[in-house]
Formats: sequence, C-alpha cells, structure tokens
Amino acid sequence: MMVKTRLIFTLYTVYGILFKAMATKGKARGASGQYPLVQNLTVTEGGTANLTCRVEYNDNTSLQWSNPAQQTLFFGDKKALRDNRIELVHASWSELTISINDVTLSDEGMYTCSLFTMPVRTAKAYLTVLGVPEKPQINGLLNPALEGDHITLTCITQGSKPAADLRWFRNEKEIKGAKEVNASGKTFTVQSSLQLHVDRNDDGVAYTCKVDHVALTAKPQQATEVLEVHYAPQVEIIHSLAVPQEGQFLKLECVSKGNPLPDPVIWTKDGGELPDLDRMIVEGRELTFTSLNKTDNGTYRCEASNLLGTNSAEYVLFVYDTPTTLPPSTTPPLHPNPADHTVLLGTHASDPALTGDRDPNAVGQHGTDHALIGGVVAVVVFVTLCLIIVLGRYLARHKGTYLTNEAKGADDAPDADTAIINAEGNHAHTEEKKEYFI
Ligand SMILES: *[C@@H]1O[C@H](CO)[C@@H](O)[C@H](O)[C@H]1NC(C)=O
Ligand SMILES: *[C@@H]1O[C@H](CO)[C@@H](O)[C@H](O)[C@H]1NC(C)=O
Ligand SMILES: *[C@@H]1O[C@H](CO)[C@@H](O)[C@H](O)[C@H]1NC(C)=O
Ligand SMILES: *[C@@H]1O[C@H](CO)[C@@H](O)[C@H](O)[C@H]1NC(C)=O
Ligand SMILES: *[C@@H]1O[C@H](CO)[C@@H](O)[C@H](O)[C@H]1NC(C)=O
Ligand SMILES: *[C@@H]1O[C@H](CO)[C@@H](O)[C@H](O)[C@H]1NC(C)=O
Repeated sequence: MMVKTRLIFTLYTVYGILFKAMATKGKARGASGQYPLVQNLTVTEGGTANLTCRVEYNDNTSLQWSNPAQQTLFFGDKKALRDNRIELVHASWSELTISINDVTLSDEGMYTCSLFTMPVRTAKAYLTVLGVPEKPQINGLLNPALEGDHITLTCITQGSKPAADLRWFRNEKEIKGAKEVNASGKTFTVQSSLQLHVDRNDDGVAYTCKVDHVALTAKPQQATEVLEVHYAPQVEIIHSLAVPQEGQFLKLECVSKGNPLPDPVIWTKDGGELPDLDRMIVEGRELTFTSLNKTDNGTYRCEASNLLGTNSAEYVLFVYDTPTTLPPSTTPPLHPNPADHTVLLGTHASDPALTGDRDPNAVGQHGTDHALIGGVVAVVVFVTLCLIIVLGRYLARHKGTYLTNEAKGADDAPDADTAIINAEGNHAHTEEKKEYFI
C-alpha cells in the first residue's frame, strides 16, 4: 500500500514536471505572481478541513496538495491517496481545494501545496486540530458526608487540546479550585480540586464543575454533584402564647432540624412522662394543651435525636390565673397578641420581665372600685371641660387658634381619662394631662 502510494506520488510528480515543461516550453514570459497561496487552518476534532491553494497568474501549471507525511493527496483533480475522508472540492487553473472530513488529531501538521513551475514553488499551511474535552467527572464525593469531614472534590476532563480550563461553582457562585494539567499524547488531562471542610450549611448544596474550551462553543460541558451532609439535630420550641392563663389553649412546637431528620421528637415534663395525656396532646412535633391548668406548671423538654446525636430544648410553663371579672372594655388587652410567635428558648421561656407588671390577679380584684372612681372623675372632668369651652369661646374673639386647640383636647378627653384610671398611680400621665388642658 505504502509502496503503491509512493509510486503514484512519484509518477504524478514526474508527470507534473513534464507537463509543466511542455506547457512553458517556448514561453519567455516571466513567472511573476505565479506562486501558490495558502492559509493556516484550525479545525475541531471531527470537523471538516478545507485546504485551499490559489494561484493568481497561472499558465495551466498543475497544483498539488500533499500531507505532513509528504504523501500526495490530490494532483490537480486526480486523487492520489486512498482515503475516503479526503475529497476534491474545487480544481481549476487558479485553485485547488480539497477537504478532509472527520478530522482527527493525527491529521494535524504541515500541508504543502506545490505549483510545478520550474523550479517547483511551494506554500505550507499548518492544520491545527482542536481536541474536544470529554464531559468532566467529579470524584471524591462522600454521600452522605458527616459534618466536620474534610473532603476533596476533584473534577477531571481528558482529551482537550489545548488544555481546557476548569471552573467550580457552589450553587452558581464561582469558587476557586486548584488546577493541574498533565499532557497525555497530543491532548491534555486537566484536573481541578476543591478542599472542603463540610458543615451543615453544605447540606443540599450543588457543586458544579464547568469546562471552558475553545472547541466548546455551542454545548458547554459540565458536571454537578449535590452534597448531602449528615448532622446532629438542632432544636427549638415555639409557643403560641406569651402569657398562658388557666383554661387557655396552648401549643408548643418543637422545631428540629437535622439530617437525617430526627423523628419522632420526645416530650417530657420535669424529667418524666407527660402526666395528663387527655389534655396534653402530642401530634408529630407539637404538644398542645386543650385547656391550661395551674397544675401544668413545670419545665417541658423536647428531645430530638438521629444517628449523629441528641439535642433538646426546654420551655418553662407558668400558668396564670384567669381574671374573675371582665375588665372594662377600654382596658388594654391583658396579654399580648396570641399570634406572637417569638421564639423563646429553654429557661427564658417565661421571663418574668415579660409578665411582671401585668399581673392579671390585681386587675381582676380591683376592677369594680376603679369603675366607680372612674365615673366620679369623669363627671368632674366633664364639668371642667364645659367651663374651659365657655372660656375658650370667650377668648376666641381675640385668638382663633385657642379655640381649635381646646376643642381637640375636649375630643380626646374621655379615652385618656379611662386610661389614667386603669393605670392608677401613674402620675406622669396625670401631669401630662394637666399641661394639655392649661
Ligand atoms: C468546505 O467546503 C465545502 C464545499 O465547498 C463547504 O460546503 C464547507 O462549508 C466548507 N467547510 C469549511 C469548514 O469551510
Ligand atoms: C489552459 O488550458 C486550456 C485548455 O486546457 C486552454 O484553453 C487555455 O488557453 C490554457 N491557458 C493558458 C494560460 O495556457
Ligand atoms: C502557520 O503556522 C505555522 C506553524 O504553526 C507558523 O510558523 C506560520 O507563521 C503560520 N503562518 C501564518 C500565515 O499564520
Ligand atoms: C499528573 O502527573 C503527576 C506526576 O506524574 C501525577 O502525580 C498526577 O496524578 C497526574 N495528574 C493527573 C490529573 O493525571
Ligand atoms: C385543674 O385541675 C384540677 C385537678 O386536676 C381540677 O380540680 C381543676 O378543676 C382544674 N382547673 C381547671 C380550671 O380546669
Ligand atoms: C402554678 O403557677 C401559679 C402562678 O400563677 C401558682 O399560683 C400555682 O400555685 C402554681 N401551681 C403549681 C402546681 O405549681
């Protein structure tokens, strides 16, 4: 085969020289501009390389393409090398274009176009073949990893030429890895590694390795791995009432995170089992009291465990009396909005500061007296107001602004008074009021 090719090549070369000799015979004209022109070429592996050789002025002298191994590919429009991938695209006195389909890395090299003048003129075109990087692979993943583990993720891609670049992303955000490039044959193996000290925030995080390469214009190559991290539970108790009173409904929710998810959680009271399962209902992570009783006072603990450990949170319940009489409708609410889901952990749950100056007991017993005193004071104030209004009208003849100010005060008075009465002994308020009316 080789010998045959060589033979054909030699024959064509000889033929070319003879042909040229005949063609130029008797012509005295100089061969200015009669030389071949070619261009370097870069093609991606698997693509098609069109090798074009042009001559500006030509007297029908033959053109020839030969490969880096000096084998003739085409002599004019005649195929010389038996290779199905190589085809003639265009042959004329001014151009010889051939194509190499399905280019491989071994096609790379210096191709020669020869014009068989005397002497032979040549032009060299370098064919560069780009190696397409393979889809990257991520190794080193421990699934699941345990919190505190040190792991090294490596991303590797082979077959790139020139060497590819690898980039790491943690949930779309780029992070820096350590790159290493090794040559293997004509292509490169590129590896990038990430050192991770795993914690619970890495649970469910996607690590992506992307390949950047000149041969990857359309379809980016990338690989993604999602990290799973196991960690011990984290527990807190959320309560539905800030000031629990007898007879009320109370819900305690044990919010526990952890991987694997701790399930179920365990509720205890003062270190023992829940005493009254008729009124204390455990459902999933929730403990509900259908109707609070003073005997429910105590420390409630929620405990969650998984393979990695156990954790708990505490809530100290202190049940207040219900007021015996309903306070006047103008009284501010005795307890904050029940929808107040402030998270209180452990022993801080029934912080006395929250409840101290709002003792429902006191309000309950003295409510009636206050109402009586309130009525008397209201009458006195009303009379005073009437006087002020009369006085105000008199003054208004001189100063219009007085009238408006006094009238405003009069409108606000009934509400403000009730407030004074209910918060008995609050002298600051009374003084404020005085200033207001003067
Ligand atoms: C090569 O030439 C063929 C035929 O003219 C053309 O269809 C093709 O697009 C060319 N390829 C390149 C890469 O220039
Ligand atoms: C080239 O050859 C063709 C015929 O093969 C002939 O008609 C033409 O005149 C020739 N051109 C030159 C410049 O010799
Ligand atoms: C073509 O490639 C060769 C080899 O890489 C280089 O020496 C030459 O300068 C290039 N020619 C052009 C025109 O780029
Ligand atoms: C690169 O070569 C070094 C030394 O031969 C070797 O230790 C390393 O594992 C190689 N890396 C890759 C990604 O092949
Ligand atoms: C609280 O419990 C005690 C004893 O179980 C019971 O006698 C009492 O009636 C209960 N109080 C309320 C308000 O349910
Ligand atoms: C529960 O707390 C209340 C305070 O409102 C107190 O009066 C009651 O005696 C306590 N009950 C028990 C059983 O500790």
